[in-house]
Amino acid sequence: MNLKDRTIIITGASSGIGEATAKKLASEGANVVLMARSKDKLNTIKDTIETHGGKALVVDGDVTKTSDFENAVSKTVDTFGSVDGLINNAGLMPLSYINKLKTEEWHTMVDVNIKGVLNGVAAVLPKMIDNKGGDIINVSSMAAHRYFPGGAVYCATKSAVKMFSEGLRQELTPKYGINVTSIEPGAVATPLTDTITDEDIKDNMKDMMGMTTLEPEDIANAIHYALSQPKRVNINDVYIVPSDQQ
Ligand SMILES: NC(=O)c1ccc[n+]([C@@H]2O[C@H](COP(=O)([O-])OP(=O)(O)OC[C@H]3O[C@@H](n4cnc5c(N)ncnc54)[C@H](OP(=O)(O)O)[C@@H]3O)[C@@H](O)[C@H]2O)c1
Repeated sequence: MNLKDRTIIITGASSGIGEATAKKLASEGANVVLMARSKDKLNTIKDTIETHGGKALVVDGDVTKTSDFENAVSKTVDTFGSVDGLINNAGLMPLSYINKLKTEEWHTMVDVNIKGVLNGVAAVLPKMIDNKGGDIINVSSMAAHRYFPGGAVYCATKSAVKMFSEGLRQELTPKYGINVTSIEPGAVATPLTDTITDEDIKDNMKDMMGMTTLEPEDIANAIHYALSQPKRVNINDVYIVPSDQQ
């Protein structure tokens, strides 16, 4: 399906996968709404998109705040007239071993990675039901399939997103024509690991240097693939890893 003039909100659009996705979807004709907390970065990305002939709107906001999502939806409708898609991509990965009891980081991951997704769905759903359709794409992870050291809480959040996506699909797709996809990437070259404070995990990360990673554009292409199917096709899960990753 053609993305031309479809309006899609992308959370975590200031960096990595979200930024690459915004640029890809805009290049395919979608109106993209860029949401994250770093307004300056979003404005730079909007400028780049517009330089290439695309259409973008910046709405700075925190996915843990329902009022920020409501504001994003309202500005989106004022500017482009509708909300056709939501890509719940914002996320954090401050990995740590459980015995370090970095409970503040655990709670932040739950707030952003899980509750942020719930907030996004709650904000767009009334519009999508009124419109009799839409697309919701949730960026989960390979971490929903397997635990890795220091990832107990992160993997739990991404498992929650994967299962929530399946629940959404079963309840919304047949009844309301809202297609739902869970995207589950392996390692992607982005600044995601920058939030790690556990020194032992940082040491482990050094061992992983040199491992092949996907590029954010690879995930953007997978998201575009899911969005561009005919309405009758729901891509449930896209599990995408570097070809040499176990
Ligand atoms: N990189 C990987 O290997 C990998 C693998 C599997 C899944 N993922 C998932 O992919 C998604 C994107 O991550 P990435 O790799 O592209 O990392 P990234 O470059 O660090 O991007 C994370 C994005 O999330 C935003 N964000 C964080 N907290 C937020 C909040 N409270 N409200 C709004 N936005 C917030 C950040 O923007 P601001 O700081 O400006 O708010 C940033 O745009 C995440 O959900 C991650 O778990 C990544």
